[in-house]
Amino acid sequence: MKTALVVGATGATGSALVNALLTSDQYRAIHLVSRRTTHWRHREVIREHILPLSRIGDLTTPYAIDEVYCCLGTTMKTAGSKAAFRAVDYGAVVALGQWAKENGVGQLHVISSKGANAGSRNFYLRTKGEMEQALSALDLPALYLYRPSLLSGERIDDRRGERFGEFILNRLTWLPGSAKWRPVPIDTLAQAMIERAHRHEGKGRFRIESEQILQLDSTASE
Ligand SMILES: NC(=O)c1ccc[n+]([C@@H]2O[C@H](COP(=O)([O-])OP(=O)(O)OC[C@H]3O[C@@H](n4cnc5c(N)ncnc54)[C@H](OP(=O)(O)O)[C@@H]3O)[C@@H](O)[C@H]2O)c1
Repeated sequence: MKTALVVGATGATGSALVNALLTSDQYRAIHLVSRRTTHWRHREVIREHILPLSRIGDLTTPYAIDEVYCCLGTTMKTAGSKAAFRAVDYGAVVALGQWAKENGVGQLHVISSKGANAGSRNFYLRTKGEMEQALSALDLPALYLYRPSLLSGERIDDRRGERFGEFILNRLTWLPGSAKWRPVPIDTLAQAMIERAHRHEGKGRFRIESEQILQLDSTASE
C-alpha cells in the first residue's frame, strides 16, 4: 500500500486526480494540502492539511510519502500581478519540490505546460520553464513533468479565453501537425499522472508531452 500527497486538490485537475486515486485500492493514505477544506474529508484514507502556500515547507506527515502530485496553478487574471502569479506557479511549486527532497519522497509529479521554456518571451511559459529548471536542479529521485496543451473539461470558474481556445483548436484538427495542440481532457491528464506513477520507471527526470498524455484519451479521434 502506498501514500500520496496532492497539492491543488480543489482545482479542476486536482479534483479529477483525487477522485481517480480514491478508486484505486493501492493507497493507504491520501494527503491533501489546500487552503480550504474539501468534500472528501470524511473518506477514510483522506488526511487534510489546511495551510497557506507560504507554509508548505512546514508540512509534516506521520510517515514517508511515496508520491507527491502538484496540480497547483493560478491565472494572471486571478493572481492580479506577475509577482503574485509567480509566487504560485514558481515559488510554491519549487517549495513543494524542496519539501519532497527533504522528506525522502520517491516520486514528484508536476503539471507544467506545453511550450514551457525558461528562455521564452512569454511570461507564463517562461515561469513554467523556470519552475521545471528549478525542480530539475533539486535532483529528486524521480521527477515527472507533464506538459499539456490547453485543458478541457468541466470547471466551476468561467474561463472564456480558454473555452474559446478549445473551440478553435478542436476545429483545426485538419491542419498538419495540429494533433500536438489538441486540447487535453482534464480526466485524461489525471489518469496519465496515476498511470505513470504506477508503472514507475525508476530514477530520473521524465517529461510527458501533450501527445503522450493524449494517448490515454479513448474518446480522441485523428
Ligand atoms: N488551464 C489550462 O488550459 C492549462 C494548460 C496547460 C497547463 N495548465 C496547468 O495545469 C495546472 C492545473 O491547472 P487547473 O486548470 O487544473 O488548475 P485550477 O483548476 O485553476 O486549480 C488550481 C489549484 O491551485 C490552487 N491555488 C491557486 N492559487 C493558490 C493560492 N494562492 N493558494 C493556495 N492554493 C492556490 C487552487 O486552490 P483554490 O481552489 O483554493 O483556489 C486549486 O486547487 C496548472 O499548473 C496550470 O498552469 C493549465
